[in-house]
Amino acid sequence: LAAAVSETGGLGLITAGTYKDAAALKAEIAVARQLTQKPFGVNITLGTRRPMDEFFAACVEEGIKIIITSGRNPEKFVPMLKDNGIIFVHVVTAVRHGLKAQGLGADAVVMVGCEAGGHPGMDDVSLTSLIPKAVDTLKIPVIAAGSITDGRGLASALCLGAQGVQMGTRFLVTKESPAHENVKSAIIQANENDTIMIERSFRNARRVLKTPLSQWVLAKETEGASFEELKEAIGGEAYIQVMAQGLLDKGVLTMGQGSGNIHDIPTVQEVIDRIVSQANAVLAANNCL
Ligand SMILES: Cc1cc2nc3c(=O)[nH]c(=O)nc-3n(C[C@H](O)[C@H](O)[C@H](O)COP(=O)(O)O)c2cc1C
Repeated sequence: LAAAVSETGGLGLITAGTYKDAAALKAEIAVARQLTQKPFGVNITLGTRRPMDEFFAACVEEGIKIIITSGRNPEKFVPMLKDNGIIFVHVVTAVRHGLKAQGLGADAVVMVGCEAGGHPGMDDVSLTSLIPKAVDTLKIPVIAAGSITDGRGLASALCLGAQGVQMGTRFLVTKESPAHENVKSAIIQANENDTIMIERSFRNARRVLKTPLSQWVLAKETEGASFEELKEAIGGEAYIQVMAQGLLDKGVLTMGQGSGNIHDIPTVQEVIDRIVSQANAVLAANNCL
């Protein structure tokens, strides 16, 4: 999927956390290099549960030129990134975190609105409010993320001042996406109001499809359940059962509110072509070009 995105002129990202160790990540980088000669990046999500040092080292050894960090503070790794001339982008969910990333030397930030799939932060601020504020506050480029699925979303992000967009849920529902067909069908069927936020009690809010299981997780969190008690539904093993085996009753499915605007399973090339032509049409119709 990452190679397909890069092949079309986007920037595909391989997520390090998907792999059990640095060797597995390096093998995947080699696969991507066979599929495309265009640049692609690696996302390294920093959490509390797993040290990521070996993945940074693997990226340096492999000559990766763009790393997108997300999650916790990437400060410890910044010298390594700078010394190796790596473009360093940090994902943030609040303008104050963007300022912090800028201070650490980030070359750009991905600013994630609360509509987004994945972990959209604890502040519940939408992209429409975040982007102009971020653009006015920061000196580095701002990339918008959250519920962008088509050219209208891209055009609006550009009008708000973003330099580009990052998309997750839309690419999950493509022919090249390795997600199970049940995952793709569930997103197509879901409306914009079919997601809920869980894991807020762990200060790690995650937007997921509303299902009996995710609603049970939320109810248990309200009762004060620990992560260990909920691990079977929200841990890594459950994620694999959902994504690889399509067992939507075994774990939660991370997705954004943009699911309401996803109706088919195109190729990545079709997604990008549609987005670019629709964004151009919208901007031209509004005398923005
Ligand atoms: C299934 C799924 C998995 C994701 N995994 C990661 C991840 O490992 N690291 C990360 O920084 N962001 C991750 N994200 C967030 C995306 O990078 C992106 O910011 C987000 O999907 C944008 O919102 P959208 O899904 O509404 O387009 C994930 C999103 C989804 C939907």
